[in-house]
Amino acid sequence: MESTACHSLNLLLLLLLISLPVFHCIAASSSPTSVPSFPNEALPTKSGYLPVNASTGSAIFYAFYEVQKPISQPSKTPLLIWLQGGPGCSSMIGNFFELGPWRVNFQKAKNDPLALEPNSGSWNRHFGLLFLDNPIGTGFSIASTPAEIPRDQFSVAKHLFAAITSFIRLEPVFKSRPIYITGESYAGKYVPAIGYYILKKNAQLPASERVNLAGVAIGNGLTDPLTQVATHAVNAYFSGLIDERQKKELEKAQWEAVRLTKSKNWTEATNARIRVLSLLGDMTGLATLYDFTRKVPYKTELVSELLQNEELKKALGVNKAVVFEECSDVVGDALYEDVMKSTKYMVEFLVKKSKVLLYQGHFDLRDGVVSTEAWMKTMKWEGIEEFFMTERKVWKVSGVVSGYVKKWKSLTHVVVLGAGHLVPNDQALNSQAMIEDWVLEKGLFGNQQGEGSLSNIRG
Ligand SMILES: *[C@@H]1O[C@H](CO)[C@@H](O)[C@H](O)[C@H]1NC(C)=O
Ligand SMILES: *[C@@H]1O[C@H](CO)[C@@H](O)[C@H](O)[C@H]1NC(C)=O
Repeated sequence: MESTACHSLNLLLLLLLISLPVFHCIAASSSPTSVPSFPNEALPTKSGYLPVNASTGSAIFYAFYEVQKPISQPSKTPLLIWLQGGPGCSSMIGNFFELGPWRVNFQKAKNDPLALEPNSGSWNRHFGLLFLDNPIGTGFSIASTPAEIPRDQFSVAKHLFAAITSFIRLEPVFKSRPIYITGESYAGKYVPAIGYYILKKNAQLPASERVNLAGVAIGNGLTDPLTQVATHAVNAYFSGLIDERQKKELEKAQWEAVRLTKSKNWTEATNARIRVLSLLGDMTGLATLYDFTRKVPYKTELVSELLQNEELKKALGVNKAVVFEECSDVVGDALYEDVMKSTKYMVEFLVKKSKVLLYQGHFDLRDGVVSTEAWMKTMKWEGIEEFFMTERKVWKVSGVVSGYVKKWKSLTHVVVLGAGHLVPNDQALNSQAMIEDWVLEKGLFGNQQGEGSLSNIRG
């Protein structure tokens, strides 16, 4: 989720008051503690802390769920890493509200007790799934001092690289597994940043120390804000949500955000984007810009409610002193000047050296389809013209129209119907079909020849 920072000093004070040692706990397997409404089988395979800097004690919290139904040998089983957006929102939202194997009962009536339910659309059916609370200071992660919280994407990537390499060292079998970095919203910055960092770093490392990056996937991402901030007015106007007069007013606000971004006035540019979104919110009166069909916003606060439980925190190997917040304002503030900076050039590098999936829930008014296609059109890559010339195919899951897939070589774009910003929450099974077919290169996500022959036999 993408949040806009307001100022709260609680976590900052907490972090200033206590200096925390390095934690490296592995929960679950040793002594599972029973938590009301949290069945033992819902605990991660491993969870705890991955150090980002041995001298400061700062560490990234992780929760790892091993594959449920492997279809390849353990050393070849893909490993997906999930990063939440914000900046500053916890990947435990992804875990317990979107794509993890157990989710909070978000459709419960107000007075029903909070509980976890198995998710048949979990992304760990055929792959291992690792959630990282990134950057430090987010969710259960530990920032020893606020000054150590990253203020740019290079620092984010440096910490993630340290965490990922120390995770891989936990088990010999992790080493050779193909890694896919995935994420949503503001992770549209993080995912390219860590992907790019891995590729650059691999080039300097001996083969035995490289990270086996196989691809990156971004859902409803903010990646090239300069292009994306200029698309809200046309998108809302042609969706019938604002009239021509409002379109002009919104465009004026957008131009200001563009002007400030171009002049590298980063704080003001971030402020200007917030004004664009709040203007759009006021004009449309919608419950949330994350999904224009929703009568009420996504109830992600249920995850926060769940993770206040001390027994559960203990079972997860969480440092006692850390109080869970859905989104950290301290982290949001640290990355405030980073918001309008582009990571498009990193995606351009990744599409040449790896493979890239960009997918969007169709109902999102913040980082949706139009917003993403706008910056994709400006990509510098020799395949981009062919990509846009390629037919966009109707994507069916179990015979039902579920969206659209356009693929050329290493670049795939997916529109997910019936979903807003949090695609795996809205369309769990379809999101699972998408990620599995993309990783395994099946169906519409396969190579071009395969697609051609499939459409030939269909008639
Ligand atoms: C670890 O933190 C210290 C103190 O902030 C810093 O000087 C050092 O460069 C950091 N090391 C790495 C590998 O980032
Ligand atoms: C940034 O923009 C604001 C508002 O337009 C202006 O007042 C300020 O002087 C600018 N700052 C810089 C460093 O250009």
